[in-house]
Amino acid sequence: MSLDQLRAWIPPGGPEDALAGQVIPERIPRHVAIIMDGNGRWAAQRHLPRVEGHRAGIDAVRDTVETSARLGLDVLTLYAFSVENWKRPKTEVSVLMSLLRRYLRLELDTLLRNNIRFTAIGRPNELPEDVYHELLQAEARTSRNTGMRFNIALNYGGRAEIVDAARRAIEAGVSPSSLDEARFSEFLYTAGQPDPDLLIRTSGEMRVSNFLLWQIAYAEIWVTDTLWPDFRCQHLLEAVIAYQKRDRRYGGIVSVPVAAGAK
Ligand code: IPE
Ligand code: IPE
Ligand code: MG
Repeated sequence: MSLDQLRAWIPPGGPEDALAGQVIPERIPRHVAIIMDGNGRWAAQRHLPRVEGHRAGIDAVRDTVETSARLGLDVLTLYAFSVENWKRPKTEVSVLMSLLRRYLRLELDTLLRNNIRFTAIGRPNELPEDVYHELLQAEARTSRNTGMRFNIALNYGGRAEIVDAARRAIEAGVSPSSLDEARFSEFLYTAGQPDPDLLIRTSGEMRVSNFLLWQIAYAEIWVTDTLWPDFRCQHLLEAVIAYQKRDRRYGGIVSVPVAAGAK
């Protein structure tokens, strides 16, 4: 897909259209990763239970996935449930799990229509069996799609991922002398995918909360005060425009054009 396809999809003459006009087509990030935060605060502002924030967050997911696919991202990764989120009340966790199952059921057709390949990253096998089953189904049904890769990070921890990768490398018999960064990254959940160019966090928190620790080494970070349930196409475009103005140096002194190596 391409920027033109995005422009054909969004209402002409509106704020999204004006923002899409500012995006430089040659510098679209290849991989955008998002820490979807602020559902609880969104609900609290409305004197609603926290789970209503999670429910409302589904609309933001739908809009973000469709915008990203049309924008022509290679990879979109959404952080949906961390290994630390089990600390939350049981009822909140179980509502999150059932929302996830419903999302997968309802959105599978949209994923197929948009040629999106879906993958769960993390330790999804430790999730409730029905959720895990739904995830495997969605992965299998979309496995031949050739468009955007949509990773959902579930029961995900950045440190857990590095430990899992180390275990797999040992199991594969990789010798210490042949192990380097490139070889190690083949054992990560995101093997074969480009690292995120842009990391977005909603609701203003300035932390990475154990997300993609290895992969975000040189990601550009963009934080918005917008709470996740309010996040839409226009916010994603604002983030991409801000990203395109960044000076990526990778430790050097000469500036590297943003999204070097990207389309
Ligand atoms: C993000 O919103 C969703 C998940 C972590 C599952 P939160 O539930 O963390 O919302 P806040 O941070 O409490 O507002
Ligand atoms: C990060 O949000 C995890 C997800 C978005 C799934 P949290 O709300 O769990 O992070 P902290 O606790 O504020 O660091
Ligand atoms: Mg939070």
